Amino acid sequence: MNIHTKAVHAGDRKKQPAAIPSTTPIYTASSFSYAEMADLDKVFAEEIDGYCYSRYDTPTAHALEEQLTALEEGAGSLATSSGMSALQVALQAALTDRRRSVVAANAIYGATMRMLNSLLEPMGVEVNYVDICDEAAVAKAIEEHKPGCVLMESISNPLLRVGPLDRIADMTRAAGAALIVDSTFATPLLMQPLKLGANLVVHSLTKFLAGHGDVLGGVVISDAAHLPIVRAIGKTSGPGLGPFECYLTMRGVKTFPLRMERQCANAAAVASWLAAHPGVSRVYYPGDAQHADAATIGRLFAGKPHGAMVSFDLKDATREGVFRFMDRLKLIVRATTLGDVHTLALYPAMSSHRDLAPKQRQRLGIGDGLIRLSVGIEAAEDILADLAQAF
Ligand SMILES: Cc1ncc(COP(=O)(O)O)c(C=O)c1O
Repeated sequence: MNIHTKAVHAGDRKKQPAAIPSTTPIYTASSFSYAEMADLDKVFAEEIDGYCYSRYDTPTAHALEEQLTALEEGAGSLATSSGMSALQVALQAALTDRRRSVVAANAIYGATMRMLNSLLEPMGVEVNYVDICDEAAVAKAIEEHKPGCVLMESISNPLLRVGPLDRIADMTRAAGAALIVDSTFATPLLMQPLKLGANLVVHSLTKFLAGHGDVLGGVVISDAAHLPIVRAIGKTSGPGLGPFECYLTMRGVKTFPLRMERQCANAAAVASWLAAHPGVSRVYYPGDAQHADAATIGRLFAGKPHGAMVSFDLKDATREGVFRFMDRLKLIVRATTLGDVHTLALYPAMSSHRDLAPKQRQRLGIGDGLIRLSVGIEAAEDILADLAQAF
C-alpha cells in the first residue's frame, strides 16, 4: 500500500479486545462506522443503540449524561457547551408546543435576563418577571400571563433567595406550563427539582459539578415528557459538549458530593463569622435562621446542607471601598465564577449583574457594597484569616 494510504488507515478502526476500560475514554471521532451497512441504518433509525455522528451523540457525552441524569433522577439529559446554552435548549424545549410566553423570577443570573430580553423577546417571546418567593404573586402572574413556562433558580444569584419550588411546580402543572429550574447554586446534593415537580433542570457544569475551574459546560436534565424534544434540539442544532470537556466534567463529578459537603461546611463557618463582624451590615445565607425564606428552605432542604454560597454587604461601602477590600484578598480568588475548589469572590454590580441599570439593581437589593463568595475546600481557618486581614 502507498505511504499516503497507510498514513490515513493504519491502526484505525481495529476490532478492540473484550477489555472494558474502567473509566470512560475521550472519544474524539466525529463519525462511527459498522461492519455492515444494515447496522448503521438501524442506528440512524434508533432501532438499536449506537453512534453514527458526533453531533447526535458520542460515547463520552453519553457516559456523562448518564452520570448527571442519575444524580438528578431524571429521564435523560443533554450535556451542552455552556450553562447558558443549556438554558436556551431548555427554554426552546419548553416552548415548542406551548404559548411563547415566559414568567421568570426577577432574582436571576444577569445573563439569563439578558437572554430573555435581548434574544427571546425580539423573537416574539413574551417575558414577564415576578418575585418568585411570593407565592400569591406567582399564582397571579401565571393566571394573568398564561405562560408556556416558568423559569426560576433553586437558589437565586446573588442574594440566595429560595422560592417555593414544589408549590410553583403544582401551579405550572395545573396551568399546562413547564417549570424550568436552574439549579446551579443548589446542586443535586441539596435539592432535586425534578422530584419536586419541575420538568427541566439546568446546571452550569462550569461550577460545582465539574468543580475545578477548567471546564465550560452545561446540562439540561429532563423529565420523560420533554426528553424527545431536548434530544432532538441537541441532534439538530448541535449545542453538545465536546469530548474533552465531557471527560473532565465526568472526572470532576466523581468527587462532587465530597467537595460539596466540605464547601457547605466551610460556607456555614464563613457565614456565621461574617454575621459577627462589625464591618458587615448584612449576610445572605440560606442556613441563616432569620433568612427571608426560612420556612421554604426548611421544607425543601429538609436536613440537607445549605450550599457553598455566601453573600454579604460591606458596611457603608461604595464601589471603591469594595474594590479596596477585594484587592486586599490574598488567598481568595477574585474571579467571575463560582463552585471551584478554591474560594472565590465576585462583585455582582461589576460582573454577574453588570448589565442591569443601577436603579434596577437597587430595586432587586443588589447594592454597591454587595460581595458574593463561593466557598472552597480549603481549611476554613485559612479562608477566615484571609477575610479578617482584608477588613
Ligand atoms: C445560576 C447560573 N446559571 C447559569 C450560568 C451560566 O453558566 P455558563 O457560564 O456555564 O454559561 C451561571 C454563570 O455564572 C450562573 O451563575
